[in-house]
Amino acid sequence: MQVLVIGGGGREHALCWRLAQSPSVTRLLALPGNPGIAAVATCLPGSVDDIDHIVAVARRESVDLVVVGPEAPLVAGLADRLRAAGIATFGPDAAPAQIEGSKVFSKELFRAAGVPTAAFECFDSSAEAKAYLRRMGAPIVVKADGLCAGKGAIMCATLAEAELAVTQLLDERAFGAAGERIVIEACLNGPEMSVFALVDGETVVPLPVAQDHKRALDGDRGLNTGGMGAYSPVPLFSDALIEQAIETCVKPTARALAERGMPYRGVLFGGFLITDEGPQTLEYNCRFGDPETQVLMPRIEGDFGEACLATATGQLDQVEVRLSNKAAACVVMASGGYPEAYATGLPIGGLAEAEALDGVVVFHAGTRLVDGQVVTAGGRVLGVTATGDDLRSTVARAYEAVDRITFEGAHCRRDIAWQAL
Ligand code: GLY
Repeated sequence: MQVLVIGGGGREHALCWRLAQSPSVTRLLALPGNPGIAAVATCLPGSVDDIDHIVAVARRESVDLVVVGPEAPLVAGLADRLRAAGIATFGPDAAPAQIEGSKVFSKELFRAAGVPTAAFECFDSSAEAKAYLRRMGAPIVVKADGLCAGKGAIMCATLAEAELAVTQLLDERAFGAAGERIVIEACLNGPEMSVFALVDGETVVPLPVAQDHKRALDGDRGLNTGGMGAYSPVPLFSDALIEQAIETCVKPTARALAERGMPYRGVLFGGFLITDEGPQTLEYNCRFGDPETQVLMPRIEGDFGEACLATATGQLDQVEVRLSNKAAACVVMASGGYPEAYATGLPIGGLAEAEALDGVVVFHAGTRLVDGQVVTAGGRVLGVTATGDDLRSTVARAYEAVDRITFEGAHCRRDIAWQAL
């Protein structure tokens, strides 16, 4: 099978690394890929947002399966176009991708399907939204409907903050069209659990659970980031709790999408708040997490390429997806200044020395090759990942690898997996 992976970050490097080990995959392509991916796949030029180009490349290269990494091209209809061209695609069509692309769509789907979620209402009128706020009081959450690069959910501790958020979104259009409609929902408390599952339209196959670290600094301080590290398994969450989230939230969501004539084919990445009433659905992403994928892939056994094809073609009930008992930990090494302004083009040393350690793989996230030298090219630069028998020694091994890698201004959190350790 010839497989094309769309994307060029750490998540896509982890996907390519796993797919390259799959017996069913005879040729692996990535668009655009990155210098790390180039070690396991042929990288092709192009943008993840150029749907015409991607379809043309997939046709030209006689690709059997496309695996889409990021959400934006899925929400924009990349999978629809690939399927229309007869190419099996791992990733949902635009309609079911609204589960991530539209908070209004997803919350209304949860309500109709009886999926547990925080009480909410949807608005496009600022006056009506503010009247609702005054009835509900604070704390409360105001969410933009569309994709806002992770910034669309505003936690409001006071009524004044909530009214300001409504003004910014609906009156001032702070997020443009993405904020034309909003969801206002009750603020729930509890630990947040991320669950991943392959969905082929009907069959739901759970993957390992992973926890990421969103804040830039140790102790969950500092600014929000795309994720500074991740680990798996997550001992805080029992198998029974994970199964409850799959049974009461993920399966009914997948069923509701299929019943509406929009079968979901790809990975559902659900965020759940664990409350006294059980898991409450916060949101779904229509893609793998980053950096969660960097710790999921080392824990999936067997032919992952076959599992992706079965997901794309509605045959998940015919493959076995085995999960290992190993632990995995990923430490993100970021550019100095990230998530604010940072320099790029800085030479990176010690990559081979880090990967010489047993069980270590360094996933490239924001790197570029200049005259044969790997240099920094993004905020999150590397996902230094270790796999081992237990979480404690695995985290220590990941930091041993981090300490072998150098680039000017590099920073990472030193407390990855603190909740578990
Ligand atoms: N790490 C969070 C995400 O991928 O959305």
